[in-house]
Amino acid sequence: MTRTPSAADWHPASWQRLVAAQQPTYPDREALDRAVADLSRLPPIVTSWEVDALKAHFARAQRGEAFVLQGGDCAESFYDCTSESIVAKLKILLQMSLVMLYGLKKPVIRVGRMAGQYAKPRSADLESRDGLTLPSFRGDLVNRNPFTADDRVPDPQLILRGYERAALTLNFVRSLVDGGFADLHHPEYWDLEWVGHSKMADQYREVVRSISNSLDFLESITGRALHDTQRADVYASHEGLHLSYEQAQTRFLGRRKLWYNLTTHFPWIGMRTATLDGAHVEYFRGIANPIGIKVGASMTPDWLQDLIRVLNPGNEPGRLSLIHRFGASQIEDRLPALIRAVRETGSPVLWVCDPMHGNTESTADGTKTRRFDKIVAELEAAFRVHQSMGSYLGGVHLELTGENVTECTGGARGLTDADLVRAYKSSVDPRLNYEQAMEVAMRIAGIRHNRT
Ligand code: PEP
Ligand code: CO
Repeated sequence: MTRTPSAADWHPASWQRLVAAQQPTYPDREALDRAVADLSRLPPIVTSWEVDALKAHFARAQRGEAFVLQGGDCAESFYDCTSESIVAKLKILLQMSLVMLYGLKKPVIRVGRMAGQYAKPRSADLESRDGLTLPSFRGDLVNRNPFTADDRVPDPQLILRGYERAALTLNFVRSLVDGGFADLHHPEYWDLEWVGHSKMADQYREVVRSISNSLDFLESITGRALHDTQRADVYASHEGLHLSYEQAQTRFLGRRKLWYNLTTHFPWIGMRTATLDGAHVEYFRGIANPIGIKVGASMTPDWLQDLIRVLNPGNEPGRLSLIHRFGASQIEDRLPALIRAVRETGSPVLWVCDPMHGNTESTADGTKTRRFDKIVAELEAAFRVHQSMGSYLGGVHLELTGENVTECTGGARGLTDADLVRAYKSSVDPRLNYEQAMEVAMRIAGIRHNRT
């Protein structure tokens, strides 16, 4: 059961009493307060019914009855809030989930890193170039990327612009889903150009054929259309980093007697803001959403147990997802102790593997990249370790795009460091491109592509 902290103990702004890491320094505090007040008057982006539905899906995944695919950009950009870019992201999530459904024989819950993934943690507050020092770029919700004093100053109006774009994005996703774009009977709608010339095209078409045949078969023997039950919902998630933004749309729903963050269905606590006595943990403990915690190699078993006790005191199913991101070289050493520690708490959790953030490296010329083989190696190790300990890996968390970028190396086309310059578009972390993402989905589904 969800426990509501008492009003004296918690409210949406109680985090302000504590140290909040990774917050922008706004030169004009009053302008920020005005923007937050404007934001809190706008209607919510998601509803508590949807949030509760996702929590119930996560509870199923915790029991091993479903699998979660969470994916999208490292940082969404305002510039990419376009029809093409949103459709491409939706397509890749739908196609991957179809392949995973086929291979895992379980419902796949789709969660986009989208419709609000606009704020980024940075290792330093300031950045220097050629003797000039300016605030670091913290995502489109906060400031602008070009290295000029005007662009880098945190602008409170951007939280309003970000909220509007998040709403536009989710509105379009919902319309596409409601209009039949996500109907599993018509995966041909999602076909992208690449399928025509990819080395994995044959395997993908085989999966599609097989799923369409099974649906037709089931419908013909039951005499019922599976339309409604088979419709693919898509949920939204982002790192709950910018606490004024999160606070502004945190609402008390009298019907449920609970507080909900209605900017997104599934906010998560990033690795740099999971301090037990920090402001983020304080904020997150009071909301009823399902929440994620990023877990890296620096997380100790005691720390994780304390976080679980604070964030899920009632051991509520579906409430907590632990998104681990150790790196291929560390996962086997680090994960077992944490699985044991979690078990001792008695809290159910959804274990999700993020094979991206522990495997970031720089090429000789300083370009940030990730090697496909390491991503797959961490993922395979995650399945292995969970299985050997009688635990269930219930999801995967990926940075990916529906576009044909060149940001991660390797994969079926064997991209090399030299290919990165060709189409490197991310302003933050390198993402899997369309084919690399499909290849990861096929690996998860147990379908191996025969390299030629
Ligand atoms: C991210 O998910 O983009 C991120 C910054 O991750 P982490 O908190 O795990 O480093
Ligand atoms: Co990232």
